[in-house]
Order: sequence, then structure tokens, then C-alpha cells
Amino acid sequence: MSILVAADFTPGEWDAWLPALAQAMPGEVLLRERDAALAREIDIAIVANPPRGALAGLPQLELVQSLWAGVEGLLADPTLPAGVPLARMVDPAMNEAMAETALWAVLSLQREMFDYARQQREARWLQRPQRTAGETTVAVLGLGQMGRAAALRLVRNGYRVLGWSARPAAIDGVETHHGEATLAAVLGAARIAVNLLPLTSATRGLFDARVLALLPRGASFVNLARGAQVVEADLLAALDRGALRHAVLDVFATEPLPAAHPFWAHPRVTVLPHVAAQTDPRSASMVAAANVAALRAGRALQHLVDRKRGY
Ligand code: NAP
Ligand code: GLV
Repeated sequence: MSILVAADFTPGEWDAWLPALAQAMPGEVLLRERDAALAREIDIAIVANPPRGALAGLPQLELVQSLWAGVEGLLADPTLPAGVPLARMVDPAMNEAMAETALWAVLSLQREMFDYARQQREARWLQRPQRTAGETTVAVLGLGQMGRAAALRLVRNGYRVLGWSARPAAIDGVETHHGEATLAAVLGAARIAVNLLPLTSATRGLFDARVLALLPRGASFVNLARGAQVVEADLLAALDRGALRHAVLDVFATEPLPAAHPFWAHPRVTVLPHVAAQTDPRSASMVAAANVAALRAGRALQHLVDRKRGY
């Protein structure tokens, strides 16, 4: 049997991914293309933003392994074969990268580093009052792989961390809350909110004017998950009237962020090009290989997506 690798990689990305996947799963046949004859030989698809329909017409398909953590794009493809297990990327190396990005954003906001960077551009010497980590409450929304790692890193650095998830969670040093009814209290206590929720029907457009207004005046917002969870016009309005102090945004409704988008030049927005936790072909290939080996050996597959929940 063979493995189809279906992705929207650039030529450079293919050059990184194919050798890494081949090295992680020696003995497996990896195909970039399929024809009608080959389609009957394919029992696993390894995917990264595959074109719509790429997984249709594969009668032997037994596993779809995503190279990305977020699977909303895959789930939105009506041709994704129903009933075939879908596994997402869960890579400790990515969790650590996300924890670093969250810490960088929170630390920069706590110590007003974005304001000092702006002052430097204006050649303005102004010393701002210093606030400690212990005096800074951070809400981490989403306590899965990424959120948990971020929350733990923040606790280790002395922040008071409130965590929010769908179901009850317990994380050392984190005050956890769950369910819609607790969101107002969590955001209302936060000086900085970090979004690490998956994009689902429940979280699309979650951060609209009403929810952003739950944050105290002068709080900051960090989005490291998905752009479609934020109503961008509402976020801009909150920043413009000073209700929110700063936004650190790694993800956007449209990516790449269009050159004319107001976020680029906004003095209270820091833009990153979707790099909060990049998938590393070396470690991610090993994760994918473990699931391939599990399927071949008849063992349980890891990191399966609950299609009903959407993550
Ligand atoms: P995960 O392990 O599936 O965790 C998701 C968390 O969100 C869980 O704690 C879940 O609660 C919670 N959640 C889901 N829906 C909720 C809702 N309606 N209300 C409250 N909590 C809810 O996901 P992950 O691996 O941490 O990744 C999270 C997201 O990060 C991905 O989906 C992806 O979009 C994004 N991401 C971004 C980058 C980047 O570079 N910017 C990189 C990787 C991933 P329960 O635990 O109670 O189910
Ligand atoms: C990146 O955003 C991912 O979902 O892996």
C-alpha cells in the first residue's frame, strides 16, 4: 500500500517535507500524485491544506494524518471521506514554540515593550511605570496542547493565569474555568487575553464587540489561533477608542494579510505572519510516522479529531 502526500506546499517546502517524511517512515511508498490505478493502492493520506477533493475516490483510505494542528479547513471539505479516522498534528516541539510566542507576547505587553519600540521610532524618551508579572493576570483561552503549554510557561514566569476550556481541566498553578457562562468572569479579570482556541462553529467570530468589551479597559489581546475567530472591524474599533491597549496578531481572516489592511500600520497592533508555532518537518514527520506505524501494526491511532466537536 502507498501513502498520498497532498499539500499546498511551495517547491521549497516540498524539498523539506518529502525527505523528512521518507526518513521518518522508511519502507513506505510516498506519492505526490495519484491516478486511477494508484488511487486503489493508497491507504493513508498525509495532508497539509490539500486542494478540495484531494481525498475523494480513495477506496482503501484508512487514515488521514494532518500535518497541521488546526483541521477546520479539512473538516470544511465536503469530499473528506466520512468515517475515515482523521488525526491532527500534536507535536511537543510545536507546543514549546507556541509557549515561547505566548510568553514573548505577554512579557512584551507587561513591560510595555511595544510602546517603547514606538517611542524609539519617534525619538521620545519616556519612562513608564513598571508592572511585575505577579501583578499581571493573563487569560489563556483554550487549554489543549497549545494552551496548556502556554499557560504552564506563563505560570513558571510568575504570571497569574486563568485558563478557559469547554470541559473542566486541571493544570498546576492555573485557575481553570470552563463553559460559555464563565467567559465573562475570565475575560473581566484579565489584563492580557491569549486566544488558543480551535476554529469551530462555536468559536468563529467569537471575539466580536460584545466579547472584546468583556475585557477591562486598557487590556490587550493576543491571537495565536485563527483569524476567523475575531471580528477584525470590532477589534480595530476597540483599539481606536482606547478600550483595548494593544493587539498581537499572528493569524488573520485573510492570509497573507493584504498589504492595504489597516492592521499593518496600526500603532497598537503587532503583526506576525502566522509563525507562532511553525510545523517543523523533522519532528512533525516523526509524529506522522508514529501513526502510520500504529495503523500498520493494528495499534490505536493517536490524536484523533472528534469531527462533531470540530477539533
Ligand atoms: P486542542 O488540543 O484541540 O485544544 C483545544 C482547546 O480549546 C481545548 O482545551 C478545548 O476545550 C478548547 N475549546 C474548544 N472549543 C471551545 C469552546 N467552544 N469553548 C471553550 N473552550 C473550547 O488544540 P491545540 O493543539 O491546542 O491548538 C489550538 C489551535 O491553535 C489550533 O486549532 C490552531 O488553530 C491553532 N494553531 C495556531 C498555530 C500558529 O502558528 N498560529 C500553530 C498551531 C496551532 P476541551 O479541552 O474542554 O475540549
Ligand atoms: C498552524 O496554524 C497549525 O494549525 O498547525
